[in-house]
Amino acid sequence: MQEIVRLEKITKIYRLGQINFKALDNIDLMIYRGDIIALMGPSGSGKTSLLNIIGLLDRPSSGKIFLDGKDVSELSDKEIAYIRNQKIGFVFQFFNLINRLTVYENIELPLIPRGVPRDLRRKMIIEALEKVSGDISWLYKKPTQLSGGQQQRVAIARAIVGRPEIILADEPTGNLDRASAKTVISTFLDLNKLGHTIIIVTHDPEVANCTNLIYEMRDGKIISTKDPQRDNCLIYKKI
Ligand SMILES: Nc1ncnc2c1ncn2[C@@H]1O[C@H](COP(=O)(O)OP(=O)(O)OP(=O)(O)O)[C@@H](O)[C@H]1O
Ligand SMILES: [Mg+2]
Repeated sequence: MQEIVRLEKITKIYRLGQINFKALDNIDLMIYRGDIIALMGPSGSGKTSLLNIIGLLDRPSSGKIFLDGKDVSELSDKEIAYIRNQKIGFVFQFFNLINRLTVYENIELPLIPRGVPRDLRRKMIIEALEKVSGDISWLYKKPTQLSGGQQQRVAIARAIVGRPEIILADEPTGNLDRASAKTVISTFLDLNKLGHTIIIVTHDPEVANCTNLIYEMRDGKIISTKDPQRDNCLIYKKI
């Protein structure tokens, strides 16, 4: 198996006035290409902090990050932004779509800084929407005209339109009913089959059980790994 993300002794300290709070404590983690994993743990255990560091949205206070074996810890903000745009797609709990733009324009956003020509953009947008089993008729709607589950699938299309190797999802089903959660998790499993490496932060054991490996966090540390029970994955359960 080929490594895609490697963290070495990652520590994150947030400074709150005079007080320093250690949100991540000396984390070592290796993620392999093509894997799909879950990150669980109580509120405040550091899941979002860790995801943001893996996704190059935030920098650690100390420690090293390797992507595809290359140390990216010391790169400039500009170089980091470039790598993030090329390699990483994010999906959030509250979709984070821009409501005044159409679905088409939302999915298009990651392609703009890349200077992709208009015709190719259109092709990539349609392809991304098809991968999340979206309906072409959504393209000219506003996000608020879609259901929560449909909006989250649009957000996933936006995350994958630039063909990133890695998809990071922070509680992607946290704001959805069971039926919508099911379609969103099936979408992630389909994308994983297409080769994307996926990390899902979740509080929901029925989501975590759909992945290949569950990491459990507590107080800024990874305290254990568990094998999922596929029978308890929400996709295989009746709703
Ligand atoms: N920007 C920040 N400044 C100060 N403290 C922060 C900041 N972001 C997070 N923290 C603190 O770091 C700890 C870990 O936060 P984090 O958001 O990573 O937890 P989490 O596991 O994602 O929790 P949840 O399940 O509630 O989303 C918490 O105690 C939080 O209050
Ligand atoms: Mg969080």
